[in-house]
Amino acid sequence: MSLVAFAAAVTSFAQVNEFTVKVNKTGAEIQPTMYGIFIEDINFAADGGLYAELVKNRSFEFPDNPLQGWSAGGKLEVLNDGPFDRNPHYVRLLYPGHPQKHTALQNDGFFGIGLKKGKQYRFSVWARTPEGGTGTLGIEFIDKASMEEVQASAYAQVTVDSKEWKKYEVVMTSGVTDPKATLRIFLEGHTTVDIEHVSLFPADTWKGHKNVLRKDLAQALHDLRPGHFRFPGGCIVEGTDLETRYNWKNSVGPVENRPLNENRWQHTFRHRYYPDYFQSYGLGFYEYFLLSEEIGAEPLPILSCGLACQFQNTDLSAHQPVSELDCYIQDALDLIEFANGATDTEWGCIRAEMGHPEPFKLKFIGIGNEQWGPEYPERLEPFVKAIRATYPDIRIIGSSGPYPEGEDFDYLWSEMKRLGVDLVDEHFYRPEAWFLSQGARYDTYDRKGPKVFAGEYACHGDGKKWNHFEASLLEAAFMTTLERNADIVHMATYAPLFAHVEGWQWRPDLIWFDNLRSVRSCSWHVQKLYSQYKGTNVLTLTDMDGNNVTGVEGQNGLFASSVYDAANDQVYVKVINVSDEAQPVRIHFDGLKKKETLKGVSTVSYHSDDLDADNTLDEPERIVPQTEALDFLGKVLDVTVPAKNFMIYILQK
Ligand code: AHR
Repeated sequence: MSLVAFAAAVTSFAQVNEFTVKVNKTGAEIQPTMYGIFIEDINFAADGGLYAELVKNRSFEFPDNPLQGWSAGGKLEVLNDGPFDRNPHYVRLLYPGHPQKHTALQNDGFFGIGLKKGKQYRFSVWARTPEGGTGTLGIEFIDKASMEEVQASAYAQVTVDSKEWKKYEVVMTSGVTDPKATLRIFLEGHTTVDIEHVSLFPADTWKGHKNVLRKDLAQALHDLRPGHFRFPGGCIVEGTDLETRYNWKNSVGPVENRPLNENRWQHTFRHRYYPDYFQSYGLGFYEYFLLSEEIGAEPLPILSCGLACQFQNTDLSAHQPVSELDCYIQDALDLIEFANGATDTEWGCIRAEMGHPEPFKLKFIGIGNEQWGPEYPERLEPFVKAIRATYPDIRIIGSSGPYPEGEDFDYLWSEMKRLGVDLVDEHFYRPEAWFLSQGARYDTYDRKGPKVFAGEYACHGDGKKWNHFEASLLEAAFMTTLERNADIVHMATYAPLFAHVEGWQWRPDLIWFDNLRSVRSCSWHVQKLYSQYKGTNVLTLTDMDGNNVTGVEGQNGLFASSVYDAANDQVYVKVINVSDEAQPVRIHFDGLKKKETLKGVSTVSYHSDDLDADNTLDEPERIVPQTEALDFLGKVLDVTVPAKNFMIYILQK
């Protein structure tokens, strides 16, 4: 036998990794909330993304320049006594003074306007003829790259027939597929026309709700089967300053009158500066609650605790003084009323007027995002008291700061225990080594304190801070500790959720998109597999020495956990092999009666030969899980877990 053949033979007789799963003892219940999603308007996730509005600065309210995002020709004026008091600006279009000249406005949307050939788009505008008479607007979709004589791929007329402000609407069909179209509005004729809240949406939106969510992006959330939905951030909850924090009350009611807010991600990173990044609040709290309901997720709003982003404000005077927190606390109480209150309450009535008289059944609220230092607990405390006093059933989430260990983290955990919050939010954007070292993270956590909400995490590769398969594999490995410890880990969410390929500030992200397409990353598939095979109860899975399988030395790069699913009487075993070698694994199913066996149903395998690759907009299905039948009947399952692979074994009891 040659040396090479001998080495191969040795490898093929590699030591079997023996695991035992106790199938007769169903352990802790896995919360239905366990695997969720977290949205923040970063990377143009909301405006320019999930919120399907195609016009940027539709209300002419961008503060430095009311015409930012627009280009204008001919004769026009920007005025500020419009019909919506919180968005007062509008544009007056006037006859240019010569029959061969034009007055026109055009908008390039968010990195262009994405149009699909043959699809319908709903143009709407608030308008009036201030001097009376009938005015005409000519609306066009412009394909700038077109070599046709005529650039417009669609044209429609809007006749403005009143001196009073009215909403006009026309549905247009695009003649071309164009990811970077322009919307052009001509004044036709001599009559002056005022325009405000100029809007363009695809007619085909999520669940057919008029003018709300982009369908493919909402579908990608739905398909994750999320157990909870955390919104609206993240750092935007805090704001660069308190003035620009996310103010939920500004995000409800008619969209035309939701005031614009600066998006803090506009200027957080100078190397990724987007001076035109604002929040229209078109995707507001009502829409978030409704989407939560429609995707079957528990809504989980996070509100400001009165601290502006602490990374950006070291001076304590930037924050709301503890003695003046009342309006912030009232915001939290009013939010619970908005979500759950009867329709004859002030905020319950607003919810009903928006179309949802039934309560949203809010159960959770988070106060503060990534806060630290004594300034946080001293602000959180009065919130906890007020919420407990008025809404004792609402579960409160506190923060453990931006880092997953260290002095600040320990201090905040002890403070969260003192304050008696229900869950503590932990964040970890960490490199490979950290994820590999955390397979047992929650095994020894204090069982008596608050529960854990792993509210933001992602593997940020060392020198590879972008989406790639190996990062998702390490996330899968890490998630075994969430699953194994479901008695204390009640919620977990990857972050961030969305990124526009031309507008991102932060990566990796779960779902990428451009103006027409979207792609689910490898991390998305890992989240999906955990949520699909979530099960209902933890099963104990140990190695031969009775230890949890957490990737420690001697465990050959294996991480594993197991759950029972009462809904279909199945056992799921998840094994992640992060090593470079295939690993033989023998799984003993312990506790079955003498004649009882388990029957194989299927295996799911997730792997990429290229560890640095991910799915792309051009190749969205490049790396997807593979399912095969599992031919097995017995009490001991022998398998080989290929190198760098996430395997799930599904067995029927
Ligand atoms: O997810 C991106 C940012 O990361 C969040 O806004 C913040 O909470 C964290 O620092």
